[in-house]
Amino acid sequence: MKRTIFAGIGHYVPEKVITNSDLEKWMDTTDEWIQERTGIKERRWVKEGQTVSGLAFEATKIALQRAQLAPQDIEFIIFASMESDVVFPGGGCFLQQKLEIPGVPSMDIRNQCSGFLYGLAVADQFIKTGMYKTILLVGSEIQSTGLDLTTRGRDMAVLFGDGAGAAVLTASNDADRGVIVTKLHADGRFTDKLWGEWPSITHHPRITAEMLETDRIYPKMEGRYVFKHAVTRFPEVIHEALNEAGYSIDQVDLVVPHQANLRITEAVAQRLGVGMDKVYSNIHKYGNTTAATIPICLSEAWEEGRIKQGNVVALASFGSGFTWASSLVKW
Ligand code: COA
Repeated sequence: MKRTIFAGIGHYVPEKVITNSDLEKWMDTTDEWIQERTGIKERRWVKEGQTVSGLAFEATKIALQRAQLAPQDIEFIIFASMESDVVFPGGGCFLQQKLEIPGVPSMDIRNQCSGFLYGLAVADQFIKTGMYKTILLVGSEIQSTGLDLTTRGRDMAVLFGDGAGAAVLTASNDADRGVIVTKLHADGRFTDKLWGEWPSITHHPRITAEMLETDRIYPKMEGRYVFKHAVTRFPEVIHEALNEAGYSIDQVDLVVPHQANLRITEAVAQRLGVGMDKVYSNIHKYGNTTAATIPICLSEAWEEGRIKQGNVVALASFGSGFTWASSLVKW
């Protein structure tokens, strides 16, 4: 059976840097509160006119170049994002348009922070069965334009950033490389613990002028509740992948968790029994970029030489849904 390898990985973040001090101008918050509770110092936000497919396109160009492949080599696009450039169609079609590869199938995955790992699992099945040999998997997000930038929305607004990461996945005959295992989970009992409720198709019409006056058009989260679940699910799903693959945590060179909060990452490292030197973190620069987080981390870790061929990398995510997932990859 073929193995799925990361032939190229790239990322792109918008140039505009929003520091914690910038946020202090718009809402009642402090740099100290944000850093102490989350580890975030700054994040990137798009400027007017930038799109999720546009961010994805920039990341894809880098990933293709590193894989030494051209857009025409892509046989399938998987686009993980909570958003698109418009309400519909999904961002994958806009990205395909930019890549100028009409006819190539494109699928959108809307699984919030777990989107990239759900996408990796899908890509891996297509490659294993031999249906496709080269798949573009992208995570791209713009959260900044949908946040409540008043004190009312401060618990969410300080956390999120924009960005994109892209992976060119190819089929390999090398049985000692590539995706070893992927584990996926969801629990819909917790949909309302972290969600964007309005505009909603349960309303006729789905959007009204009155709605715009309420806070229900902004994302909402029960922070402590999410935190508690996250610190349990991350180590659990990493252990699940390790057990299935017959690996121990000592054989893992780098753990790359979704970046929701540095305190969550630290708790996960502690529960796994690994030092923070073995856990990748870039939340201080980007905040939480939802489905883009893991590929941005992978791209930066690769650039920094922290992921080299032969290294075993454990990926894990947790987010809205709740959805959570993990993967063990031999680079
Ligand atoms: N600046 C200053 N004060 C803030 C604030 C901000 N940005 N956001 C919330 N506060 C206030 C609250 O209003 C509250 O005030 P009160 O005590 O007067 O009521 C106080 O800080 C504590 O709020 P709380 O929500 O209990 O803080 P916390 O320690 O749980 O930290 C989070 C909040 C959001 C950082 C934390 O819960 C978290 O990270 N949760 C999980 C996030 C996550 O994983 N999300 C996405 C998953 S993909």
